[in-house]
Amino acid sequence: MRKKIIAGNWKMNKTPSEAVALIDELKPLVANDEADVVFCVPAIDIIPALEAAKGTNIKIGAENMYYEESGAYTGEISPSMLTDVGVKYVIIGHSERREYFAETDVTVNKKVLKAFEHGITPIVCCGESLTQREQGVTIDFIRQQIKIAFLNVTAEQAKTAVIAYEPIWAIGTGKVATTEQAQEVCAAIRTCILEIYGEDTASEIRIQYGGSVSASSAPELFAQPDIDGGLVGGAALKADFGKIVNYK
Ligand code: PGA
Repeated sequence: MRKKIIAGNWKMNKTPSEAVALIDELKPLVANDEADVVFCVPAIDIIPALEAAKGTNIKIGAENMYYEESGAYTGEISPSMLTDVGVKYVIIGHSERREYFAETDVTVNKKVLKAFEHGITPIVCCGESLTQREQGVTIDFIRQQIKIAFLNVTAEQAKTAVIAYEPIWAIGTGKVATTEQAQEVCAAIRTCILEIYGEDTASEIRIQYGGSVSASSAPELFAQPDIDGGLVGGAALKADFGKIVNYK
């Protein structure tokens, strides 16, 4: 039985002091042993967030990292900077990073490999645009994203990965995918993993849905056989996140 994983993606929101205040507010609301609860926060918030979340079930993750160990990469954060302070999760290849910061399937793959090398669990994002959905190429496109993201990743590593299926048209728009659409694509992702790695890996890897998840949509989405939780943006910044984590 896969354990659910419900992660907040704070994006570029909350100063360090606001982050501490939000964690203090949310920590009693997100207590839940049945799911892994992760707050992915801006880099500068990571250390105060870790401190604020100490002794709770909340795990702190990063929203991005670079694939080199160190050196002349002004503005970037290395994997060992994250592990040194105790970060266990990192979002890789969010559609906003692909769109505004020129990330590609190839750089996503480099980051995924680096994250595994350092023992950080990647939350690997994929998702189609509205045009791709309307043109009927959603599954083909997502299979391509997954196959490249997981190039040279071993079955043992892939088992521990998290994939977030986030249709771009549903992110921050209030337009949540229907339960059927979300389940269909998450099942297709699991099939793709099965083809690459086999049954064991496919049954262990966790696949989230993301895109306008709310307290009202979470229960039905998370009850789907191939949806193992969610990656939550806007609703992760308010008390509603407690309801999402305790969706049952
Ligand atoms: P949203 O964002 O919940 O605000 O749509 C989700 C995401 O981008 O991870």
